[in-house]
Amino acid sequence: MDSNNRNDSGHTYDSGQRDHSGYRNDTGQPPQSEPQRQYYYMARLRAYVEEKGRELGRPLTASIQTFGCQMNARDSEKLAGILREAGYEQIDSEEADFVLYNTCTVRENANQKVYGRLGTLNHWKKDHPHMMIALCGCMMQEPEVVEKIRKSYRFVDILFGTHNIFKLAELMVSRIEAEDMIVDIWKDTDLVVEDLPNRRKYPFKSGINIMFGCNNFCSYCIVPYVRGRERSREPGDILNEIKRMAADGVTEVMLLGQNVNSYGKTLDTPMTFAALLREIEKIEGLKRIRFMTSHPKDLSDELIEVMGSSDKICKHLHLPLQSGSTRVLKEMNRRYTKEQYLDLVERIRAGVPDISLTTDIIVGFPGETEEDFLETMDVVRKVRYDSAFTFLYSKRTGTPAAAMPEQVPEQVAKERFDRLLKEVQEISREVTARHQGTVQKVLVEEINHQDASLVTGRLSHNTVVHLPGDSSMIGRIIEVKLTECRGFYYLGEPV
Ligand code: 5AD
Ligand code: SF4
Repeated sequence: MDSNNRNDSGHTYDSGQRDHSGYRNDTGQPPQSEPQRQYYYMARLRAYVEEKGRELGRPLTASIQTFGCQMNARDSEKLAGILREAGYEQIDSEEADFVLYNTCTVRENANQKVYGRLGTLNHWKKDHPHMMIALCGCMMQEPEVVEKIRKSYRFVDILFGTHNIFKLAELMVSRIEAEDMIVDIWKDTDLVVEDLPNRRKYPFKSGINIMFGCNNFCSYCIVPYVRGRERSREPGDILNEIKRMAADGVTEVMLLGQNVNSYGKTLDTPMTFAALLREIEKIEGLKRIRFMTSHPKDLSDELIEVMGSSDKICKHLHLPLQSGSTRVLKEMNRRYTKEQYLDLVERIRAGVPDISLTTDIIVGFPGETEEDFLETMDVVRKVRYDSAFTFLYSKRTGTPAAAMPEQVPEQVAKERFDRLLKEVQEISREVTARHQGTVQKVLVEEINHQDASLVTGRLSHNTVVHLPGDSSMIGRIIEVKLTECRGFYYLGEPV
């Protein structure tokens, strides 16, 4: 069975490709193997959803709130697929029968946001006792967080982590039957469950995980602790999933991994990321390929060559710098120097002319001096990024950097942050304007949020363009003349 369906709201979802009709086995026991076991629980959950819906005289609603990165966004599409299969109607508002927070913990303010919003949710639940609240994602992989929620947020129904999101239906059934908080956090896993449902946000573009976890242990970063060891998916599974997506109307894929450049190293038959890209390029119907995130230390000449000769790989590379100071980079355990980074950029630009480069930069890492900071400014001026995400260093308990002496005073870090932001924005404006007056291919993504007579799309370079249009253009790639650069985006006219 290969069932690809479109639901009422125009979102697409696929139920995987295997025959899942066997979940009703003779013993009435749940199957032991995945994904059959989860289809069994989705059917059980659906029975509950239908019964409760009859009782309330309306369909049950579910709301997923996603914090953080593209990985989480992709996980949320999988969670949404499970809820759709169980009969929930997905809504944006948190005034729903089931609310799920998919959390991020990469910086402390992400955690604070979740606690704040949980408080508000509690009020709603008091008036709607049948409501269920679940928390999942990176924050839940931190034992102190789980402890705090168990103690002070007793109204939460289900806690699970990053390794077992495929179990959502099973956990919800357990909660309905147990009448007590369900906590299921796995420390790590080598399990990759394939062929579960999935509900894409856009019918024409999709993220796809090519690997999970991270082995780099940058000294400031909590990701390796909450997402576990690096595991690559089998190339055959990735290619089949993309082929199914393309047959279902997807023209743009975003390959996701914490460090895509080390893809395939741990497979039984190792394969490079560049070789995987070559295979994906051959898939018919697919028009654009993006990927995230590239670690500079693992970016190969083979990849530059594949990017340079490809018609489908987008002219955009996100290449996190983090710091321009070789000394700080060493403390960060990034395993490249300022000079190696600049040399890499030069090779990329030679191999892929006119490529857009974007980056992540952290300001105020422990021990960062004014001199170190000026090295970062120097790299920013030399590379001239299309855009840069700038972050104030945030201390994450359990990481090596948290124990480093000389944490930079907040005032000093903020002042540097403002200087960096100003520089980054000025350069970004100039660099973005280089396409002014040219005709470029734009993938139209949606109706403009401010002005319904406009549609919004993206260049291969990832730059945003607004142009006159209507919903019939959504999902199409059209030629657009870029008439006016407005800083970080363009206004254009279809040609
Ligand atoms: N503090 C500030 N920024 C961080 N990042 C990761 N960990 C931290 C931290 N502790 C940033 C890095 C990374 C991006 C996703 O988040 O720049 O590339
Ligand atoms: Fe964190 Fe570094 Fe891994 Fe990126 S590569 S997730 S910054 S440890």
